[in-house]
Amino acid sequence: MPKLTVVNRAGEETTIEVEDGLTVMEAIRDNGFDELLALCGGCCSCATCHVHVDPAFKDKLPALDVDEDDLLDSSDHRDENSRLSCQIPLTSELDGMKVTIAEED
Ligand code: FES
Repeated sequence: MPKLTVVNRAGEETTIEVEDGLTVMEAIRDNGFDELLALCGGCCSCATCHVHVDPAFKDKLPALDVDEDDLLDSSDHRDENSRLSCQIPLTSELDGMKVTIAEED
């Protein structure tokens, strides 16, 4: 099971083990982090699952598609490491990745 380290808005790090096939959003939501609202449930239509991804893993992530790119543009906190966590399936390739929950818009 891949490990994922989540940094909350207070800067506290927690490492969780995630069942293969879940998205980063599902992993965060199902492990009790209440800062990640994920209001649309993963349909790529809300941007409340915004995270900043460890740059070391950037090349291993699925490509950003147009819808995700547009939604991220609606955030005041977008940076070059921004992704919507519901669009990232956690595979063994991403084992050890760290994500930081983005500031609230
Ligand atoms: S949960 Fe809504 S865009 Fe990711």
